[in-house]
Amino acid sequence: MISVAIMGHGVVGSGVDEIIRTHKDRLFSAIGEELDVKYILDLRDFPDSPHADRFTKNFEDIVNDVEVRVVAEAMGGLNPAYDYTKRLLKAGKSVVTSNKELVAQHGAELLQIAKDNNANYLFEASVGGGIPIIRPLSKCLAANNVDEIAGILNGTTNFILTKMIAEGMGFDEALKIAQELGYAEKDPTADVEGHDACRKICILASLAYGKHVYPDNVHTEGITKITLEDVQYAANYGCVIKLIGRCKVEEGGMMDIGVAPMFVPCSSQLANINDVFNGIMVRGDCTGDVVFYGKGAGKLPTASAVVADVIDCALHLKRRKLIFWADSKEQNILPMEESKTALYIRINTEDKEAAYNTLTSALGEVKTLSRVDAPENEVAFATANEVKYGDALNAVEALKAQGAEVISVIRIGNL
Ligand code: HSE
Repeated sequence: MISVAIMGHGVVGSGVDEIIRTHKDRLFSAIGEELDVKYILDLRDFPDSPHADRFTKNFEDIVNDVEVRVVAEAMGGLNPAYDYTKRLLKAGKSVVTSNKELVAQHGAELLQIAKDNNANYLFEASVGGGIPIIRPLSKCLAANNVDEIAGILNGTTNFILTKMIAEGMGFDEALKIAQELGYAEKDPTADVEGHDACRKICILASLAYGKHVYPDNVHTEGITKITLEDVQYAANYGCVIKLIGRCKVEEGGMMDIGVAPMFVPCSSQLANINDVFNGIMVRGDCTGDVVFYGKGAGKLPTASAVVADVIDCALHLKRRKLIFWADSKEQNILPMEESKTALYIRINTEDKEAAYNTLTSALGEVKTLSRVDAPENEVAFATANEVKYGDALNAVEALKAQGAEVISVIRIGNL
């Protein structure tokens, strides 16, 4: 029998407990031994839980118990999860987690501590919920140079955007439903402002390129400024708006990485990923595009990835899994102004021709877009080609200097 502990009994932690209880036989056949949940750490009481007798409020019970070999951390947030994880790894226990904030911020350090203590630190559930992506990227695609990763990495924002696109629903109402369904973080700012997607693309970039990418260094925009008008323009341009996390390494080794809403052509595989689903496209130099698709949030999908890591740790007690990246303080991230993208720009102006001329002289060919019932002064443009984002920002300033009100600036993805 292998004793495990679960830290946190929220959406994911309770799902981990449930799967271990309800899939006993399946887990036994995968491991060859029984998994026993010896402790569940939570400050709250759960008298109705079938494992009510396993709850503890004291972390020391877990870290000091030599029988506990694997710990599932589903607390979320940096503290106290960071300290607890370090102490568990230093005690030689393997830790698995769904905590993308922790992995994105301290992954390199925690992987090093795991290595030093002959333990494992696994985090399949931290990106894409129930979608296998960490293992495929680090193992199945290992022979490839990864040219690019682009994905819909946040279920809540994809759910909200889908409601806006398909049902014309307002942002607030869609967010409320996402929270009721348990998709959104406790504080939805992390979802709607893009921080959650940023953490996930940082984890994927760190894994694919071998050096830690810190979220604070990554340009991040959310979806709070996206309106139904933008959704209409996108539709008339043959696109849908998605929140995309992207990274690729440019010639010379600079990494172009960021999170932003984008017009995604309807022909793209990412365009048809709706509701809470996530989709991650990995462009390998040998494989070409490989797309991973599935439920990116929710109790059992995410918990299933955590339990898969528990199984992997149980099968590799005192043996290391080769998932690793090094810490890096190098500034190898391309400044946002240098990154290239096509753009959609929506403005209000009394002089549409002047605006058109300003944009074409700054950014080359632009197309004028339309939507039904647009107010007389509204006009939207799309650049025909990719432009430097810094040049686009200058063009936007020039439009403002002409008296235009710039309402939206959204990237058009080449996906
Ligand atoms: N809040 C996250 C999302 C949960 O909506 O994708 C899964 O990481």
